[in-house]
Amino acid sequence: MPLISMKQALEEAAKGGYGVGAFNVNNMEQIQAIFEAAEELNAPVIIQASRGALAYSKMIYLKKLMEAATELHPDVKAVLHLDHGNSPETCKQAIELGFTSVMMDGSLKADGKTVADYQYNVDVTAEVVELAHKTGVSVEGELGALGGIEDGHGAGLAVDDTEHLTDPDEAVDFVKQTGIDCLALAIGTSHGAYKTTRFDADGNALPPRLALERIEQIEKNLNEAGYPAFPLVMHGSSSVPGDLVDIVNKHGGNMPKAMGVPMEDIQFGIQRGVRKINVDTDGRIAMTGAVRKVLWETPEKFDPRDWMKPARAALKELIKGKMTDFGQAGHGSDYEPISMEEIAKSYK
Ligand code: G3H
Ligand code: 13P
Ligand code: ZN
Repeated sequence: MPLISMKQALEEAAKGGYGVGAFNVNNMEQIQAIFEAAEELNAPVIIQASRGALAYSKMIYLKKLMEAATELHPDVKAVLHLDHGNSPETCKQAIELGFTSVMMDGSLKADGKTVADYQYNVDVTAEVVELAHKTGVSVEGELGALGGIEDGHGAGLAVDDTEHLTDPDEAVDFVKQTGIDCLALAIGTSHGAYKTTRFDADGNALPPRLALERIEQIEKNLNEAGYPAFPLVMHGSSSVPGDLVDIVNKHGGNMPKAMGVPMEDIQFGIQRGVRKINVDTDGRIAMTGAVRKVLWETPEKFDPRDWMKPARAALKELIKGKMTDFGQAGHGSDYEPISMEEIAKSYK
């Protein structure tokens, strides 16, 4: 099956009342794990590559790996999305290569570090929308800026920063002025494993404090402004499961105490319009734990397949759990794919 547009995947998710996990990939094993999980659970899925991923593996490798995956798993409905595109130029490259969706993250300047002003964000995002929609490619924009740092992208704001949360009143104007297909929110989530500054008396990490009420307000404002069921996006949605961190640490790792976004908070968001849920860190921890375990327990091993296979299997299990909890499992065959040409016509 050809790749589908994000617009279609998220509109279907809104109809079905579920969320779709957007999982970051850098290599073949991650793509295989996610496609196998999606096939086994009959789940639509979003595969996304960051700029860091594209630099690591080169865009063309990822594109060809995705082609192989869609050929091997013809029933899986998958979106190929650029995560945190830093400029119209980067988005253009991804579009030309066949990505069916791009994020223009104009919340930061093109250096990926400096918080941008509102007008800059509107201008670059609208520019990408104009280009992308010509070929049916969907566009995600971001309003407000996330805390934490991603490799090469992120303003380095404190993870408990509240200054840059999405303004519910600005959200409508942003959607109107840019024409985006989905909106990434800053509601207190952050990238990476260390999302909280809160610990109890025994030193156990407590979940980050999220401004969940903003999701409801933003969805309400958009609805009243004539954008019913507008798809919202939650970045930084890893839960940082303690059992996975323990596997890492039991086998020579040294991850400090951490706590991510509880699944109940994500499900709260899904009930109020969050349709795309970004997860990268949890997959990294699952794979690292699996690799460490093999190398720790059998230090004589040196065939990469001996540790890549368990890493792939650990990622697949993790993704299956997320797909079930986000509600996308079972919905892969709800609809027929709309071609990118048809989607392009619908924008006109
Ligand atoms: O956007 C956040 C993802 O975790 C990507 O991270 O830039 O290290 O690939 P990365
Ligand atoms: P996590 O670091 O919480 O997995 O978030 C990933 C993300 O938002 C990618 O855009
Ligand atoms: Zn992100």
